[in-house]
Amino acid sequence: MANIAIMGFGTVGSGVFDIIRRIPEILKRNANGEEIVVKHILDIRDFSDHENAGLFTKKFEDILNDSSVSVVVEVMGGLHPAYEFTKELLMSGKSVVTSNKELVATYGTELLQLALEKNENYLFEASVGGGIPVIRPIHQCLTANRVLRIAGILNGTTNYILNEMINKGKTFDDALKDAQAKGYAEKNPAADIEGHDACRKIAILASLASRRFVDYNNIVTEGIVDISLSDVKYAEAAGCVIKLIGYAEFAEDDRLYSIVCPMVISKTSPLACVDDVYNAVMVTGDSVGDVMFYGKGAGKLPTASAVVADVIDAVKHSERSKKIAWTDVGYNFMISPDEKKFSYFIRTSATREKIKEVFDIKQIYDIGIDGEIGFITEPVAESEIQKKTEALGSVLSSIRVME
Ligand code: HSE
Repeated sequence: MANIAIMGFGTVGSGVFDIIRRIPEILKRNANGEEIVVKHILDIRDFSDHENAGLFTKKFEDILNDSSVSVVVEVMGGLHPAYEFTKELLMSGKSVVTSNKELVATYGTELLQLALEKNENYLFEASVGGGIPVIRPIHQCLTANRVLRIAGILNGTTNYILNEMINKGKTFDDALKDAQAKGYAEKNPAADIEGHDACRKIAILASLASRRFVDYNNIVTEGIVDISLSDVKYAEAAGCVIKLIGYAEFAEDDRLYSIVCPMVISKTSPLACVDDVYNAVMVTGDSVGDVMFYGKGAGKLPTASAVVADVIDAVKHSERSKKIAWTDVGYNFMISPDEKKFSYFIRTSATREKIKEVFDIKQIYDIGIDGEIGFITEPVAESEIQKKTEALGSVLSSIRVME
């Protein structure tokens, strides 16, 4: 029998509890015969009316000091006190499983190292892509590759919004309201629509793939707040869609280019078909080529599915650390944004003659909106596109195109 505790009884925490109660025999079989038993649930709210009220506590020490608890699920979210609690639990010889991407992206280096030292596990499959298995594949199955690139749709809320704009012709504001009404977006949706959520997730994937700490503060992050319905229509005319992409490209000299921004992508890319709140991560390895991981990137049971699988893994590896770690190398290995060239999709009210003066372009897209046209540039560096768009004047939008 393996006693566990859950810290945080919100959407994911209650999903973890539901799965453990619904299919105990399957979990036991998958955990090599160990029954998974929830012994404590930590939450500051009142659950005295809950049918399992006896499990709830408001005191962290009830979990910390219970030597029979071997694995703790941290699904509280936020940095504090999740960081302090996780540290104390690992120090006391318990494994911790989390969906908390903010914590992993910020303190992962230290917490993973601590888990190693204590011969415990700190597992975080649910922190990226919700229910999609992507952490383990990168950490284990793709290790015979030099990872060349990771490009992912890592935020369900923004994908839902863009999808509603693309397929139903809604404006950004209407699509956002709809996402909030359906419970996808947070009450304060800034972390989703400004790209910060996706930024933490790509930082985790890039750290895992390179085994070096990638600080999300060094990743250029642009959200989807400026994407208009017209942008979406022009992209459609060019046989493309617009998606918020978390992007990490590993150069041969081991440096990293990383960005989170809306990108125009061809409909022939598998990422273009990822609709609704679904996420997808495409990893390109030098031997395997492209592999794609797809599924529900958010939500109660999909996320809890990844958390409970980590619990089972921690139970099965109770005697040894799985040795997942990355190190802070202490120097800057990020490629400056200006070294990377992209083609840009430009929407402008400039004349065709002026466009051809400034850019070397093959095609102009005219979708019948008065006084404006769109085109895709040749690949250019960021400083160059700034100079060129200044020379063009009248630029209504400028969006990177993913190769
Ligand atoms: N707000 C996030 C999303 C939840 O929409 O993808 C999962 O991290």
